[in-house]
Amino acid sequence: MARIYVTRHLPGDAVDRLRAAHDVDVWPEDGPPPQDVLVEHAREADALLTMLTERIDAEFIQATQPLRGVANYAVGTDNVDLAACTDAGIPVGNTPDVLTDATADLAFALLLAAARRIRDADEAVRTGNWPTGSPGAFLGQDVAGATLGIVGYGRIGRATARRGEGFGMEIVQNSRSSGTTLDDVLERSDFVSLHAPLTPQTRGFIGERELALMKPTAILINTARGELVQTGALERALKDGTIAGAALDVTDPEPLPGDHPLLTAPNLTVLPHIGSATRTTRERMADMAAGNLLAALAGERMPYCANPEVYER
Ligand code: DGY
Repeated sequence: MARIYVTRHLPGDAVDRLRAAHDVDVWPEDGPPPQDVLVEHAREADALLTMLTERIDAEFIQATQPLRGVANYAVGTDNVDLAACTDAGIPVGNTPDVLTDATADLAFALLLAAARRIRDADEAVRTGNWPTGSPGAFLGQDVAGATLGIVGYGRIGRATARRGEGFGMEIVQNSRSSGTTLDDVLERSDFVSLHAPLTPQTRGFIGERELALMKPTAILINTARGELVQTGALERALKDGTIAGAALDVTDPEPLPGDHPLLTAPNLTVLPHIGSATRTTRERMADMAAGNLLAALAGERMPYCANPEVYER
């Protein structure tokens, strides 16, 4: 029987599955455990089930060896130093595919909400400002016939593109085979939706220059990672009208404090990173993460492994 530390309560019965075979300890609070607390628990554990909020870097790995597996409850692994895990012989699991549709749905929900000014209109009703019969109230943008730029044409980017096609949008994207550059996508799109992974190359790759390339009527949607966008540059672009709006499920920093200056920008919708938050998706992610750990602890390959090269060693 191995010891597993799980850094949050999970939906569904994944933790019960782990408990049937192993000794499982779950961090009892809603937020993440502080890093020193995580290190302390990880030192006692054989394997971890972690969220994106946990930093699994070289220092952490050195302090907590020997771990037999880390199952990250996310498709992204930017919170994990995969190379350091591979060097230490630790397989890292992730949860690809199951959250593709839920995240693409949310990207499209944000696109529609921003295009049709849903937040402003809802706010007007709640504050007793119903614009009775006023033809000029809450004028939004057409979605049908507009151009949707997809930056990062992977699983979620393609699923978002399919939704755009269903709404009669023209799709532009900058995958290598498309022959279209990021600058072209930014210049041509009415809506730009970010789906790139966070890497050293993409960190902050949407800054002042890139925002200035966008149309003044364009809307930026980000359901990928907050750190893709330079927050200060986005705040300025919204305030000075360089772009018409932004709808974000992810921010930098995350969580975004309630008094953050970005929140004073006009035409901005912000959600607290809920891209994968449907009951079914979150339960499937928990099942995959549990399956990854059970495999690792049984000495088998993780079925969804983000550093498969660890098995070549
Ligand atoms: C992921 O899995 O990477 C998502 O961002 C989590 O919601």
